[in-house]
Amino acid sequence: MNAREKILQLRSTSPLILPSLLLCDFGDLRSELELLAKAGIQALHLDVMDGLFVPNMTYGMPIIEGLARHTELPLDVHLMIQEPSRYIEQFGAAGANLITVHVEACSDLPATLKQIHDLGIASGVALNPDTELDAILPCLELCDLVLCMSVNAGFGGQEFNPVAIEKFKQLVEIRERRQLNFILEVDGGINVETIGDCYTAGATWFVAGSSIFKQECYQQAVTDLTAAASA
Ligand code: DX5
Ligand code: ZN
Repeated sequence: MNAREKILQLRSTSPLILPSLLLCDFGDLRSELELLAKAGIQALHLDVMDGLFVPNMTYGMPIIEGLARHTELPLDVHLMIQEPSRYIEQFGAAGANLITVHVEACSDLPATLKQIHDLGIASGVALNPDTELDAILPCLELCDLVLCMSVNAGFGGQEFNPVAIEKFKQLVEIRERRQLNFILEVDGGINVETIGDCYTAGATWFVAGSSIFKQECYQQAVTDLTAAASA
């Protein structure tokens, strides 16, 4: 099974809660992984920021590679970097199962998505709240996943922007009409209050940072989010 097939096994898992390792304890990643495994997590969301496309920096290939050596969980890598095609091969070699690039950051989005697929990795396209859906419509055939940001990419702990909900409703309709199969993921400000409306609108994969890592018990947090999605 290649990297892409491994994550696409979760295609119809809904709701799928993906912890964003942005607010975790980077000094003790091994314990964080153990706690997440105990909480029943099925995939990890990794936020890579370059200080250029977004005004913040996080981590790059070595952390992905280190995580991949210590977990069997598939890795959903969210690249918030300018011109990501420069680094896709390296993130693939580091162990990414899914690479999501921002439409706003790519000079040639179709070529970038093809580059990801050619490496046997699942492809995702992300769009910030202010970016219109039109920007990605010509490329949907090349996407395994569409990520609608419900905050401006760059920082954890921001407030949910409901503009993503309208996008999901339209994407569900477009997906059916064009007989496509992409996953719908939402990222930013997801908590027990906001998850339900996204789920109802058609999102099935939910990235959660604060609503897991700022809670006492990760297992309880994941249980609560899962229940709140379909409540
Ligand atoms: C924001 C990142 C998110 C973020 C989510 O740019 O892509 O993954 O860490 O964090 P919360 O859930 O706190 O908004
Ligand atoms: Zn993210």
